[in-house]
Amino acid sequence: MSGRTIAVVGATGAVGEEIRAILLERKVEADRWVFLASSRSAGKILEHGGQQVEVRDLAEPGAFDGVDLALFSAGGGRSKEYAPQAVAAGAVVVDNSSAFRGDADVPLVVADVNPDAIADTPTRGIVANPNCTTMAVMLPAKALHDAFGLKEMVCSTYQAAGGAGQSGIDELHAQVDVLVNHREALRHNGAGAAGKVTPEVFMAPIAYNVVPMLGSMQANGYTDEELKLLYESRKILGIPDLKVAPTCVRVPVVSGHAISVRATFANPVSRDAALEALSGYDGMVLDEFATPLAYAGGDPVAVGRVRQDLFDAHALNFWVVGDNLRKGAALNAVQIAEVLIANGHA
Ligand code: A2P
Repeated sequence: MSGRTIAVVGATGAVGEEIRAILLERKVEADRWVFLASSRSAGKILEHGGQQVEVRDLAEPGAFDGVDLALFSAGGGRSKEYAPQAVAAGAVVVDNSSAFRGDADVPLVVADVNPDAIADTPTRGIVANPNCTTMAVMLPAKALHDAFGLKEMVCSTYQAAGGAGQSGIDELHAQVDVLVNHREALRHNGAGAAGKVTPEVFMAPIAYNVVPMLGSMQANGYTDEELKLLYESRKILGIPDLKVAPTCVRVPVVSGHAISVRATFANPVSRDAALEALSGYDGMVLDEFATPLAYAGGDPVAVGRVRQDLFDAHALNFWVVGDNLRKGAALNAVQIAEVLIANGHA
């Protein structure tokens, strides 16, 4: 008996489902499981490790009674409203949304990078899980920062449709189904082909295309998704003046984000020294030709194409791939939960 009650908020969603699976896989123990979602899902039964757990409405009074640890993945609005209620009821919260990531008194943690932030920082009872793209970059960035002193990154992303949730995946498949029958138009009349489908989730057709606009546009011309790569990286790596030039692009991949990174360091860096710094890092593998398809559904972040810059002895170019639902969201949330449990916070 662990004496522990664990809640999953958004238990019926894409990330929530993955969180439940990973909790079982990694044998995180609880005497009682509380699965919360919207009123639409209340009463539904979810099987969890041989137990039948009834989904309850998050808005139900007393939803967090007796809960020690709550993993939130039901959107920023729900986190803002209910995470403080969970904390008031005595729970420690792992939040997968962007609601609290920038708050000084909320640690922003990648389990393999800065787990000590949980032990050191006086918390509001909330630990934030980073953005899925930032998360993948943080593992090689930290390994290289420790060896060479990271100063700047140019990050160009290739983000999967699944990063927008199930509706993003559905839109990609539906558009492929239509456009696969318009091969001539795809070859000679792209605009005509584009007119055969109506984008709803993405800014432009995602099938047979790339969409260079991801997230909501900010006053400075960057999207909120792009600025997460700047502000979250600074906080996680503890480099307040880190410079990041981000461009986020959506590609027609179901699962798995990829990022091309040009990183500049205080010290000179060679390919061999970089490979040595990167090898053996927890949660990361070296794979010269890593592709999203090869890593979708898996835990590790893969790093490849490591090259010394052609013109700057202080710069490296490399490629990063990570499953956006696993390490990018659910796996890291569960790893944070494990650190909280090991540190006696839950
Ligand atoms: P539900 O399945 O009942 O709608 P996804 O990102 O895959 O869309 O999942 C979102 C998760 O957040 C789901 O578990 C969803 O529950 C939950 N959710 C969405 N809106 C609410 C809400 N207003 N109150 C509680 N849970 C919500």
